[in-house]
Amino acid sequence: MEEKKILLEARHLWKSYGRGAAKVDALADVSLTIYDGELLTILGSSGSGKSTLLNALGGMDKPDKGEILSGGQDLCRMKDRALTAYRKKNVGFVFQSFNLIAELTARENVALTADTAHDPAIIETVFNMIGMSDKMKNYPSQLSGGQQQRVSIARALAKNPSLLLCDEPTGALDYETGKQILVELERLVREHGKTVVIVTHTQEIGKMSDRMIRMRNGRITDVTENKTPVPAVSIEW
Ligand SMILES: Nc1ncnc2c1ncn2[C@@H]1O[C@H](COP(=O)(O)OP(=O)(O)O)[C@@H](O)[C@H]1O
Ligand SMILES: [Mg+2]
Repeated sequence: MEEKKILLEARHLWKSYGRGAAKVDALADVSLTIYDGELLTILGSSGSGKSTLLNALGGMDKPDKGEILSGGQDLCRMKDRALTAYRKKNVGFVFQSFNLIAELTARENVALTADTAHDPAIIETVFNMIGMSDKMKNYPSQLSGGQQQRVSIARALAKNPSLLLCDEPTGALDYETGKQILVELERLVREHGKTVVIVTHTQEIGKMSDRMIRMRNGRITDVTENKTPVPAVSIEW
């Protein structure tokens, strides 16, 4: 069997909001390993802790307790500046709301965000990867929702992150467009060897991944391995 390389290891993460009777455990003893080159989905209903977990894994937010080990470092113990540097170098984020800057073209949006993306060849490569090389000069208002999401994926890819974290990436898109975005994300894993984590509340989307993690009330309740993931084009929800 092929040896799986560990990219990130989260151990016993806790995070709560509020206090007293209003206290909510957004993460309650969450432990999770992410393997290099896998497509992982995190499923669970609204409020189950998916975004909190994703933000912790990406170094966007620190848990109250626990460890997140990446290449010998513990993200939970890093100083804010070191964590920001880590995040900039290693992690790409894709959000439900594409978060593009309206005054900048698609190309400028991609070039702006990543320090390493000033190389025109890199920018062209990432636009090619997401099938948008003919739209680089368009402003976000001149792009469809699906195209804007592609640009936001290109932006995340421009720094060649070891990990791409996507929080409900199809949430603001119609069904067909959302499906195309999932096909793109799948391609990044299967053809380009990226490691991609997709947060979704849509059960069926889990079928395209190598592993599905289910969350409920801040806890991981289930981890399922898909020996033969269903291609994104074939899933329906
Ligand atoms: N900034 C915050 N302040 C207070 N409560 C929060 C905050 N962020 C998340 N929560 C709470 O933590 C829990 C998990 O939230 P979240 O991780 O956003 O869930 P999901 O992404 O699965 O919908 C919810 O009960 C939510 O209300
Ligand atoms: Mg969320």
